[in-house]
Amino acid sequence: MSTLKFAVLAGDYIGPEVMTEALRVLEHVAKQDGFSLEYQKADVGGAGIDNHGKALPDSTLALCEKSDAILFGSVGGPKWEKLPPAEQPERAALLPLRKHFTLFANIRPGLLYPELTDASPLKTERIPNGIDIVCIRELTGGLYFGKPKQTTTLPDGDVQAIDTMVYRKSEIERILATAVTTARARKNKLCSVDKANVLETSVLWRKTVVDYIAKNAPDIELSHMYVDNAAMQLARDPNQFDVFVTENMFGDILSDEMAVICGSLGMLSSASLGAGKNSLGLPFGLYEPAGGTAPDIAGKGVANPCAQVLSGALMLRYSFGLEKSAARIEAAVRKAVTSGTRTGDIAFGRPSVGTKAMADAIIAAL
Ligand code: IPM
Ligand code: MG
Repeated sequence: MSTLKFAVLAGDYIGPEVMTEALRVLEHVAKQDGFSLEYQKADVGGAGIDNHGKALPDSTLALCEKSDAILFGSVGGPKWEKLPPAEQPERAALLPLRKHFTLFANIRPGLLYPELTDASPLKTERIPNGIDIVCIRELTGGLYFGKPKQTTTLPDGDVQAIDTMVYRKSEIERILATAVTTARARKNKLCSVDKANVLETSVLWRKTVVDYIAKNAPDIELSHMYVDNAAMQLARDPNQFDVFVTENMFGDILSDEMAVICGSLGMLSSASLGAGKNSLGLPFGLYEPAGGTAPDIAGKGVANPCAQVLSGALMLRYSFGLEKSAARIEAAVRKAVTSGTRTGDIAFGRPSVGTKAMADAIIAAL
């Protein structure tokens, strides 16, 4: 029987609530499918600051180092907002984790089940069959990490802040490899999103994409789009994309837009993969829901656990090679969310179905 060794970093506010339920679902699947879980929990984000004096405690990083994957909750919130920006949970925990493990490939599925199309702010006639697209976001480059990154007072007394947008060709090529693999597993269609009419990094991005696809993946139907147009097209006809690939900041913004058109932030999972392999020879990855810590509903037992559960499914798929178990979880979530009176409720965190009840429904559907 195989044993899955992973780190559980639940984080803040609703993080631990939805994590508890995700672990319960994973335990259930493990029992049914004949594997066992050996996870260890550690503080991260605000919990790290409160209990260890820093957002990414050394002990937490050490645990991640010896794990085969990280199941992540979410970090940050009003309690730590007064700290200097560079010490806040998001910048001091999540970004360093991504960088430390070179998790450059962020895969964010945008899925809206056909049964729930009325939950999207888009008109149902634009998405009669729901939404099924994937955002591939470059995660360790661009404006988030480029140097210099600083605020200075100028000789004339004015204050100036600088973020630097940097990309190397090799960084673009490696995210393209992920994009191509993803596109090949779907419809062989890939849209590259950039701002090549303005940005130098985007000019390099586009040239690299053209050359890379011509050389390595001529079977892929490739298109290019400027990011402003992509934002508009996502709202107009999201399914035209199938798979899109873009740089860090554009991907951050477009993936939130994707989340909202898919009806609920509480449904979107994500996988962040790097070049590193775990002890099984599979990709080491960090798996996290896209919705954030939702401080407004924390402690009420109403947060939607689906995104955390689905992130667990992605972990089984990519870092542990358990495709069948992953697909079973995904099917169970779909069934639980769309069946009977639950339709739509959970997706939107309506209190009529609580966090625990939702996980119970998923377990019942397994
Ligand atoms: C995300 C989040 C993070 C990001 C924040 C919390 C730093 O918005 O994962 O999309 O900008 O990458
Ligand atoms: Mg974001």
